[in-house]
Amino acid sequence: MANLKVNYCGVEFKNPIVTASGTFGFGYEYNEYAPLDEYGGIASKGLTRRPRGGNKPPRIAETPSGILNSVGLQNPGVEVFAEYIMPGLSEQFDTNVIANMSGNTIEEYVEMAEILSETDAAIIEMNISCPNVKHGGMAFGTDAAVVEKLTAEVKKHSQKPLVVKLSPNVTSITEIARAAEAGGADGLSLINTLFGMRIDINTRRPILANNTGGLSGPAVRPVAIRMVNEVYRAVKLPIIGMGGAVSGADVIEFMLAGARLVALGTGLFAKPDLIFDVKRDILAYMERFKIDDINSIVGAVELNQA
Ligand SMILES: Cc1cc2nc3c(=O)[nH]c(=O)nc-3n(C[C@H](O)[C@H](O)[C@H](O)COP(=O)(O)O)c2cc1C
Repeated sequence: MANLKVNYCGVEFKNPIVTASGTFGFGYEYNEYAPLDEYGGIASKGLTRRPRGGNKPPRIAETPSGILNSVGLQNPGVEVFAEYIMPGLSEQFDTNVIANMSGNTIEEYVEMAEILSETDAAIIEMNISCPNVKHGGMAFGTDAAVVEKLTAEVKKHSQKPLVVKLSPNVTSITEIARAAEAGGADGLSLINTLFGMRIDINTRRPILANNTGGLSGPAVRPVAIRMVNEVYRAVKLPIIGMGGAVSGADVIEFMLAGARLVALGTGLFAKPDLIFDVKRDILAYMERFKIDDINSIVGAVELNQA
């Protein structure tokens, strides 16, 4: 039997497939389509220090091969998650939970890391890259010195592996990745959504109430693959790859680029039980190429010489 098990930051994942934060609720909504136990891990909605109602609607606009969203981190807050949601998840399901958090200040991130450290979450994923919050994520995610300082502070207060989630909306993703590594991150995840905008030509107004939003789905995948590979070659940290993965072939592509885990996100909106197809196709690929261990393909792309 082919090995699909992956060790990520010292945590064992039964397979390399996880979900992308904000596209999977807290998992319960999806369990009736495909049991959560099918996944190596699931990522929570983006948590904030206090509950948030999110942005005004419309918050989603369709685009060719993708969607533009400006949900704005609607969530019940980290304390409700720690007290009521996480205990239910670990009691009912056999999968790792990646708790995703977003803050407005270093203090908020530190407090959330302390609260999440007391839960059964396997990993803390620190979103420094959300483009939808006015005084938040972007400022952290685009400045290397701030990323290093924030990571170092949060790491001191985290009893769980700390994964820093990177924004693609930067000049050099490797510079930010190196800063997170220097700050003591245990892993990196990428990419978050690409900053975008749509305009209704009849009303001459933006389609999203927030004017701009984040682009996700297959449209962003080549950008994500390129960035995962650049980061893989620049740092030693294990990577969670994401951005438009909607098939087993896409998951393999991310792994060849350098991802150890791969998240399904927007693809789940169209096909909530996608995990079954993805696993079947990964196993077929492994059989076809006589691969015993999925770990052997991580970063195995052979670049052309210029
Ligand atoms: C509706 C929606 C909400 C999202 N919310 C979050 C969030 O709260 N925190 C976060 O780190 N990323 C969030 N993301 C980004 C995804 O986790 C992922 O990085 C991105 O969508 C690329 O993957 P995909 O193309 O497979 O969806 C969100 C994406 C979407 C589409």
